[in-house]
This record gives sequence, structure tokens and C-alpha cells, in this order.
Amino acid sequence: MLAALLFLGIFSFFAFTASTADIRAPIRPPLKPLHILTLTTFAPSGRPDSYPTNSAVNISASDPNSMTVIACATTWPVFEYATVWNRINPCSESSGATKNSKWTFQLLTPTASGQGASPLWNFRVHFVHETEKGIYVATGKFGVDDGNLSGLCSASGVCSFVLKGDNVTVPLYRLER
Ligand SMILES: *[C@@H]1O[C@H](CO)[C@@H](O)[C@H](O)[C@H]1NC(C)=O
Ligand SMILES: *[C@@H]1O[C@H](CO)[C@@H](O)[C@H](O)[C@H]1NC(C)=O
Ligand SMILES: *[C@@H]1O[C@H](CO)[C@@H](O)[C@H](O)[C@H]1NC(C)=O
Repeated sequence: MLAALLFLGIFSFFAFTASTADIRAPIRPPLKPLHILTLTTFAPSGRPDSYPTNSAVNISASDPNSMTVIACATTWPVFEYATVWNRINPCSESSGATKNSKWTFQLLTPTASGQGASPLWNFRVHFVHETEKGIYVATGKFGVDDGNLSGLCSASGVCSFVLKGDNVTVPLYRLER
């Protein structure tokens, strides 16, 4: 009898919470987007006597949610483009650094097929912020043809591109565990 009552009690408790959860499910505080402050890409000519010898992508961004400003940079030997894709690179927190907070970024090809990909003028950037509260991710697409990168490659083979436009933001999401 007691067991039956308990069972009923538990059952109605779950029934109640389930229906409340259904109503409340969509409520989750929205995250503010990540602001891309600067983004530059560079490739040297690749001539034997040229300096520097590495290509580079440099990004700085500010996260209004965690109040951090990050600097993300990666380099790769000129012509060795294949090594840059999907590699997980650390970002440093130049301000607002907090304990147990870690930012990383990856350069991804613009589409799954990777067609037209260049880490200099057509790519995606995937940011990950690991904190005690959870993991947050943001993926932004950048390209000359998209209109948010501008620059050129000179006849000598030196390439240089920069972020175009003010207030460029990338939506930030919290990963569900
Ligand atoms: C890119 O970042 C690296 C490492 O932080 C730095 O040495 C280099 O000067 C930066 N390049 C540009 C163009 O900002
Ligand atoms: C860059 O432009 C493309 C095309 O308009 C857009 O899809 C993409 O979201 C833009 N990237 C950012 C970071 O705003
Ligand atoms: C930046 O863009 C966001 C969203 O598009 C907008 O809410 C905000 O007012 C803009 N900020 C500035 C300084 O233009």
C-alpha cells in the first residue's frame, strides 16, 4: 500500500516536472556573440631568401559573456597548406583571463568538400572556450568572395588579407553535455 502510494507520488511528481519542463524548455539566457576585433592573414613569397618563411593567421576577439579578450595566432611553413587545416591551436587571453578557462581555435575549410579553400582568403574559424561552467563554441566564415576579407597576393607571391567591416560578430553557443 505504502509502496503503491509512493509509486503514485513519484509518478505524479515526474508527470508534473515533465509538463513544467516542456513549458520552460525554450528559456535559456541568450549568449552575446563573439566580436572579431582584428583578423589578418599573411603568406611570404616563398623564395629561398625571403623572410619570414612562415604563413600566418592572427585573430583577436572579445567575448562579452566571459569578459575576455583573446589573441589567436597560428603559423605554417609556406606552401604546406595541408598542415594548417583542423589543427587545434591555443589562443591566449590578453585580458580578463580567468582560472580554468581555455580558448582554442581551428581553421576549417569553407565547406565540407573543401572546395576553393585557402587559409589566407577563404576559410572558417572554429573557436572553443572551455570553462568551469561549460563549453562554448563559435564558428565564423571569412572570405574575400563573402565580402568580409580584403587584400591581395602580389606578383612576388606575398599575400596579405585583413578583416573588412566594423562590428563583425560570430554567434556563440553553449554545448549541451
Ligand atoms: C601574429 O601573431 C604572432 C604571435 O602572436 C606575432 O608574432 C606576429 O607579429 C603577429 N603578426 C601580425 C601580422 O599581427
Ligand atoms: C562573412 O560573409 C558571409 C557572406 O555574407 C557570411 O555568410 C558570414 O557569416 C560572414 N562572416 C562573419 C564572421 O560575419
Ligand atoms: C554590432 O552588431 C550588433 C548585432 O548586429 C548590434 O546589436 C550592435 O549594436 C552593433 N554594435 C555597434 C557598435 O555597431
